[in-house]
Amino acid sequence: MSAKPRLLVARNVFTPVIDRLREHFDLEVNTDDAVWSRDALIARLQGFDAVFVTTSEPIDRTLLAACPQLKAVCSMAVGYNNIDVPACTEHGVLASNAPDVLTETTADLGFALMMAAARRLAESEHYLRAGKWQKWSVDMMCGQDVHGRTLGILGMGRIGQAIARRGALGFGMKVIYHNRSKLAPEIEQPLGARWVDFDGLLQGSDHLIIVLPYSPASHHLIGAAQLAKMKPTATLTNVARGGIVDDAALAQALSQNVIAAAGLDVFEGEPAVHPDLLTVPNVVLTPHIGSASIPTRMAMANLAADNLIARFTGGRPPTALNP
Ligand code: DGY
Repeated sequence: MSAKPRLLVARNVFTPVIDRLREHFDLEVNTDDAVWSRDALIARLQGFDAVFVTTSEPIDRTLLAACPQLKAVCSMAVGYNNIDVPACTEHGVLASNAPDVLTETTADLGFALMMAAARRLAESEHYLRAGKWQKWSVDMMCGQDVHGRTLGILGMGRIGQAIARRGALGFGMKVIYHNRSKLAPEIEQPLGARWVDFDGLLQGSDHLIIVLPYSPASHHLIGAAQLAKMKPTATLTNVARGGIVDDAALAQALSQNVIAAAGLDVFEGEPAVHPDLLTVPNVVLTPHIGSASIPTRMAMANLAADNLIARFTGGRPPTALNP
């Protein structure tokens, strides 16, 4: 019997998924769940045929050159800005991500953050817990309405469309979106969704949600100049990637009420959070939990496992990124 391929699981993953992988691989798991730097990962990966990664492991040309035995890099995340896919392809390494299975769960969180920002949920809760609630008042914690308002979506992919469905069908919102390309009428029409240019999105949205992949082209797409174009009553929510929003500029805009509020699940340089964001009251902050429901995280991990197993058993990896 030939030896099983060697798999490094670079973060601590659910036991049933590990048990499944163990049937096919001689594996080692990062049970401490430490986040390894690229150099630490290179050192650990020597002699391994495959690696199971998340959003935190940088897979670049240097790593691929230093790990010539590597044949597969399979991520349980949908976003893959940490993986150099063309370099993987050049090295003959399978790269895969985990799309679809987290769409609805991430859309739920995006919608929840938008609602929390609009209705000042975090501020209200802190106020109550701090013992500041002495009486009901007419203007206490008044925020913005969500129902019937204009929902703006930057990046109308799978998650953007799922958020649009929530807004249009559940809350009677008008949907505008900005995307590289206009969607097909059969997608737009049931949602009443309308493509607008970037400025039209900034100016027209009551609640703007970012669901765009991160790339050098989307770096700081939302900064001071863009925030200044938004309505002073608007909210901004980011469930995509840190770095798309200039966090320092956003903190300043929030403190000066350039926009009403924000909801952020992702941050530049996370898990570090810009200190100014921690002190402004009108922002709701969550630690990158967009896909964090147990069934969804299990499905994501199992999809990464499906790709790994297919690669080494002659099957077709279901969500390969290589062309
Ligand atoms: C992803 O899959 O890209 C998410 O950001 C992780 O939840």
